[in-house]
Amino acid sequence: MRGYRILIIGFGSVGQAFFELLNLKRHILGVDFIVTGVIDRSRGFISNPSQGVINEARTGKLIGKKVDLDQIPGLIEESDVDIVCEFTDLNIRDRGEPAFTYLSTALRSGKHVITTNKGPVAFHYDELMELSRKYNRLIRFKGTVMAGTPSFNILDLLPGARVEYFMGILNGTTNYILTRMHDGLAFDEALREAQELGYAEADPSLDIDGVDPALKVVILSRVIGWRRGFEDVEVQGIRNVDVREYGDSVVKLIAYANENRAYVKPTPLGRGNILANVSRNLNALTLKLDTLGEITVVGPGAGRMETAQAALTDLMYIVNHADY
Ligand SMILES: NC(=O)c1ccc[n+]([C@@H]2O[C@H](COP(=O)([O-])OP(=O)(O)OC[C@H]3O[C@@H](n4cnc5c(N)ncnc54)[C@H](OP(=O)(O)O)[C@@H]3O)[C@@H](O)[C@H]2O)c1
Repeated sequence: MRGYRILIIGFGSVGQAFFELLNLKRHILGVDFIVTGVIDRSRGFISNPSQGVINEARTGKLIGKKVDLDQIPGLIEESDVDIVCEFTDLNIRDRGEPAFTYLSTALRSGKHVITTNKGPVAFHYDELMELSRKYNRLIRFKGTVMAGTPSFNILDLLPGARVEYFMGILNGTTNYILTRMHDGLAFDEALREAQELGYAEADPSLDIDGVDPALKVVILSRVIGWRRGFEDVEVQGIRNVDVREYGDSVVKLIAYANENRAYVKPTPLGRGNILANVSRNLNALTLKLDTLGEITVVGPGAGRMETAQAALTDLMYIVNHADY
């Protein structure tokens, strides 16, 4: 059995869940994966982590060798792994850095890469694809849109199908808040509830103002083949929505794009619309295809294990498609 060596960068919720999932599923998958290193801002550089590392990692304290952030690209370059898995935080202000530097360093030094981080993919799509071609290494990023729930990767199963448009609910936090507002809660109450349940961050602005789904619109568009950046998506969040103004319709934060136009905005839907019935923190994506008409996928769009599944899907794609 061939063994694949893996370096994990970012060992928070998703990184730890991915490490656990690998240990849990490696026998079913029939592939031998070895995590030979973990690099994390707080937890440090952990060489050859044992399974017990998870208990220590949960504390958030330094458990390996302390690393400065500017040492990380060098560590990636020197590492002899096959695959680098990147799970660091989204950074909008720096347009996906330093994750983009980590991913590009990994590709340049001959590693395949997996990321769940929207920033580098949405802001540096062309550069990453160019590096992937030039160095003949794969980049996969399923976790950036709808976690492990199939989304754009469904197109792998539909050769030749052309997407005419897509329309979806790509942010679970705002979907939860809008659902609860339809139940009668005020915006602030619904937001507080979403925070208590762990769906919303302490600073929920990326979700509420529509930035998170807009980044996903960019990523979906690029995968489909429509050239657009973050600035090309019209974005309106849910701060000023009063669902009572829409009578019997159900208001959803809809992400829509075709070749010419892309937006994220609160949209009233008739009760018969399939997306109107996607409630709480679920996500959904409808793809309109020339060969099949509309198909819709519904499922979780976030969560530690749900996102780790996306990285595992990417890992198996690399195992099955990389030319070594
Ligand atoms: N959680 C989800 O449901 C979900 C779903 C889809 C996509 N994602 C994406 O997946 C990524 C990871 O999410 P998460 O929930 O695991 O976040 P998290 O719990 O905050 O973990 C991120 C980890 O990366 C570390 N880190 C941050 N910047 C770093 C850097 N420059 N170099 C090295 N380590 C760094 C953090 O260290 P500190 O402890 O020092 O902060 C933290 O341990 C994010 O980009 C997120 O948007 C998450």
